[in-house]
Amino acid sequence: MKGLLAIAACALGTSASCASRIEDAHNRTFSLGTLQAARLPKFLTNNPLPGGTPWGKVDPATVNPKNPPTTGVTRKYDFTISRGELAPDGYLKKSGILINGQFPGPTIEANWGDMIEVNVHNNISGPSEGTALHWHGLLQKGSAWYDGVPSVSQCPIAPGASFKYTFQADVFGSSWYHSHYSAQAAGGLFGPLVVYGPSHVDYDEDVGPIMLADWFHKDYFDIVKNIMSTNSTLWANPSDNTLINGRNPYNCSLVTNGNPCGAGSYSTFKFTTGKTYKLRLINSGAAGMQYFSIDGQTLQIVAIDLTDIKPYNTSIVTLGVGQRSDVLFTPKAVNGTKAIWMRTLQSGKYCQRAANPKGQAIILLDDAKNTTIPTTTAYPPPVDDGTCKNDPLEDSVPYYAETLPEPSVTYQITVNSIVNSTGHELYTMNGSPFKADYNSPLLELAYEKNTSYTEHPEWNVLNFGTNSSVRIVIWNNSSGPHPMHIHGHDMWMLYDGSDKWDGTTVVNPQNPQRRDTHNLRPNGWMVMQYNTDNPGVWPFHCHIAWHLSMGMYVNLMERSEEVDQSVIPGVMAQTCDAWNEYSSTHVVDQIDSGL
Ligand code: C2O
Ligand code: CU
Repeated sequence: MKGLLAIAACALGTSASCASRIEDAHNRTFSLGTLQAARLPKFLTNNPLPGGTPWGKVDPATVNPKNPPTTGVTRKYDFTISRGELAPDGYLKKSGILINGQFPGPTIEANWGDMIEVNVHNNISGPSEGTALHWHGLLQKGSAWYDGVPSVSQCPIAPGASFKYTFQADVFGSSWYHSHYSAQAAGGLFGPLVVYGPSHVDYDEDVGPIMLADWFHKDYFDIVKNIMSTNSTLWANPSDNTLINGRNPYNCSLVTNGNPCGAGSYSTFKFTTGKTYKLRLINSGAAGMQYFSIDGQTLQIVAIDLTDIKPYNTSIVTLGVGQRSDVLFTPKAVNGTKAIWMRTLQSGKYCQRAANPKGQAIILLDDAKNTTIPTTTAYPPPVDDGTCKNDPLEDSVPYYAETLPEPSVTYQITVNSIVNSTGHELYTMNGSPFKADYNSPLLELAYEKNTSYTEHPEWNVLNFGTNSSVRIVIWNNSSGPHPMHIHGHDMWMLYDGSDKWDGTTVVNPQNPQRRDTHNLRPNGWMVMQYNTDNPGVWPFHCHIAWHLSMGMYVNLMERSEEVDQSVIPGVMAQTCDAWNEYSSTHVVDQIDSGL
């Protein structure tokens, strides 16, 4: 009886021991989005280089952002990955996966051209799992081995083992890193990544990453089990909450399972009217699209993914999972009020399932007191037209122009949602759902000139050989949106529509939009193109964690004959040895595609 009372008190967040447990778990949330958070610099000044900035005085309109300088500087990070309870919204009993005890993980910062070294230790236990970290949007030219995708560039890092990633900050802007092992990222295993570079716009202060994400109270693997089950009543897994920089108070009266729930907090930002701020928006969620706005304010989009663009104004920024936007804004009081809501909405109606689609954070202007709770209303009102589409391609014109070459091959992919003969719901790309083989990374096979992938249709390898520029036309024959992400490249976005592409018309043909993630609309079409300037095996997939688990993934093989010109690091073989040893003595519970 006493125990039951204690649990009930904890559900209401009133008992002292419960309060301290929630406090503990809540404190894992990182400092971005608190009043203690420091503004980001224009570039890192430790290890300075002669002449000030590492890139000197350049005009961003004429400097190729994919041609980094060599700085000779290495930024080193040490990440220990382990399980832990976390309560970013006050709801406790979420078992997450943390980096150095933090959620989200630490911010990685580097100057354009620096080397980044991340030493990852896999301490995941109870139960143990493999892991691998991917650096979303970086090109990994000549370092394909460090792209962090199990079964493609490496074997998973075995429990108890370490792996040191070494790669160049070869493009600049706002991005993130995340686990690419099953849906671990949905358990909290992600963090922001900022590369400082020449700026094509002026602003006063860089507020840094603002991560927008859906949040699930279930353990990520329990959700994967539901999704991969043959019981169709378990396939829909609505998110429980919507977080801004890891915070947003949950309405504890919704908790019906007796689990502890206490007071969550809002992320809070302090700004001065008349100053111009840079916000680095990142959709780091598992499934939900985000519609970001600030009550009564105009936002100026200056970058999409890692591409600087000619600035344009909007009131709502749309981000599919994995997409980023750098936004400038100059705050003003709303009807004389200096406490204002920042909002992110998962448009719950058509684009995803979200039990609590509204995420909010507090903006305090000038002398507004730290304890003020805003009363502003959403203006302009967020649009939910049900199309789950990105802003028109016409709107984003890259600041550094690139000429679109004639494609040397055009390939069509059809996406389907199916239920297979064993009753599992899967996604197929040209009829085939992807399934990873953790024990034989494709890049290593390519290096050994081993073509056994041709006998494994489930590895979904598309070998484009020595083609110089590949155009891919995708038809989404399913009713959900799919944020399609390419590794090792950015892609020209040539068409995005509900109607079938006419086969020739390209949007902004002189200088088409470029980015690394595009939201393929429900039952719609997209056309993208990339140059094969990066020998390797590069993932191209839907970034919705559950769709990826269900197999919505292909490998783009590129000039594989040239892969052997790069040196295979000895650590790759050691990592596979350790994984082979682990997987021969433990059951690896790979119930999903593996990625
Ligand atoms: Cu953000 Cu395949 O990754
Ligand atoms: Cu998808």
